[in-house]
Amino acid sequence: MTLDYQPSQESLSKLTPVLTKRWLSPDAWKIDVYERLDGYTALRKALKAHPDELIQLVKDSGLRGRGGAGFPTGMKWGFIPQNDGKPHYLVVNADEGEPGTCKDLPLMMADPHALVEGVIIASYAIRANFAAIYIRGEAVHAARRLRAAVQQAYAKGYLGTNILGSGFDLDVVVHSGAGAYICGEETALLDSLEGYRGQPRLRPPFPATHGLYASPTVVNNVETIASVPYIVLGGSQWFRSMGSEKSPGPKIYSISGRVNNPGQYECGLGVTLRQLIDLAGGMQPGHKLKFWTPGGSSTPMLTDEHLDTPMDFEGMAGVGTMLGTTAVQVFSDQDDIVYATYRWIAFYHHESCGKCTPCREGNYWMVRILHRILAGQGTHRDLDTLLDACDNLLGRSFCALGDGATSPVTSSIKYFKQDYLDYIEGRKAPMFKGELVGAH
Ligand SMILES: Cc1cc2nc3c(=O)[nH]c(=O)nc-3n(C[C@H](O)[C@H](O)[C@H](O)COP(=O)(O)O)c2cc1C
Ligand code: SF4
Repeated sequence: MTLDYQPSQESLSKLTPVLTKRWLSPDAWKIDVYERLDGYTALRKALKAHPDELIQLVKDSGLRGRGGAGFPTGMKWGFIPQNDGKPHYLVVNADEGEPGTCKDLPLMMADPHALVEGVIIASYAIRANFAAIYIRGEAVHAARRLRAAVQQAYAKGYLGTNILGSGFDLDVVVHSGAGAYICGEETALLDSLEGYRGQPRLRPPFPATHGLYASPTVVNNVETIASVPYIVLGGSQWFRSMGSEKSPGPKIYSISGRVNNPGQYECGLGVTLRQLIDLAGGMQPGHKLKFWTPGGSSTPMLTDEHLDTPMDFEGMAGVGTMLGTTAVQVFSDQDDIVYATYRWIAFYHHESCGKCTPCREGNYWMVRILHRILAGQGTHRDLDTLLDACDNLLGRSFCALGDGATSPVTSSIKYFKQDYLDYIEGRKAPMFKGELVGAH
């Protein structure tokens, strides 16, 4: 950590520690400490309200899903049919697989009860008596902490039967996946949770009516659900006092790469990259910003032209990209964009579940073409072939993994075609020898 750097007052004023406010409190992950720091007060308040009032509150707050797509959370909860005689389920998506994303795991490590409290309130609102938290398999440390938090919550009467004398019952299970990016896609996640191979389901029907065990299910991201107790305590207007009109609330931006102090910075939606880099201690010495992703590798990358674009859902859409998971990855003039794109496509190729042809074959070929270019054996036609492959992936894949794989390719060629031509026309020394053979 570089301590001698002082961010500007303007950047510091963008910080809104809400979800992160307990992160620096020692042992905040223990239930006694959490309770001392206002923990479970939102639950007591929520259990006195009618479930429909809570759904309306979340609708009024304007909370949008923090898992990538930004779907309005209250509206999603409102889709759950009532009095249908079927069990309802809440499933929390704690898979956090999008490259560069690092917000849900730190949240679950530092403040797991915020998530557990959010799970209880959300389950009460949608009338679910069973909730599952699906966590990626590699995150053993976070799964242990979360399981401990769930046990502590049972012991204190926040989970189980007749919670706090309200008559509401809820059981929560923390389920570890086996570690596959596709299992973050909500329908693949549901299949995996049911014990099947994690592959996306055809929609419709949507999880709101046919989710876990073909019953009405809400799937929400960790940060989305952890925001709920604060909305219950602070109210919808307070929540809307942060962020922008159509993208309200605070958001944890995880910034990595060529900055001095990478980490999580919680700001109102709409902060700019310039301000985030300032908060993160500036660019590393000798590095000049070249390209960056606003929300993981599935969101088209941007350049230094976009330093002052508001990083909310609308601002990012306005410059042809997406807010995604707010995984801001910062690259400099010393980073090779063709190599970065190759690494990302190698990831998508590896993680493609293989269910549909455009993604399975498209990524197979794209990783080979990119390798060939980096080996100094590329041709001008290879660039056309890459773009053609992207045309056949985008909008033609079975799920958004295939769409997302096109983002690094099309955006890097759009902004930095010259870097590809430097390899193709021999101005840059090859990075690899020979063709890519075998599995990647
Ligand atoms: C390939 C792929 C991976 C995904 N991974 C995650 C993930 O790790 N965590 C997550 O919350 N959402 C992930 N999503 C988005 C989910 O499908 C879903 O939209 C989200 O969990 C909904 O929660 P929200 O409304 O709270 O954002 C992924 C989507 C795709 C296509
Ligand atoms: S787009 Fe890729 S990950 Fe999604 S279903 Fe098709 S093959 Fe599987």
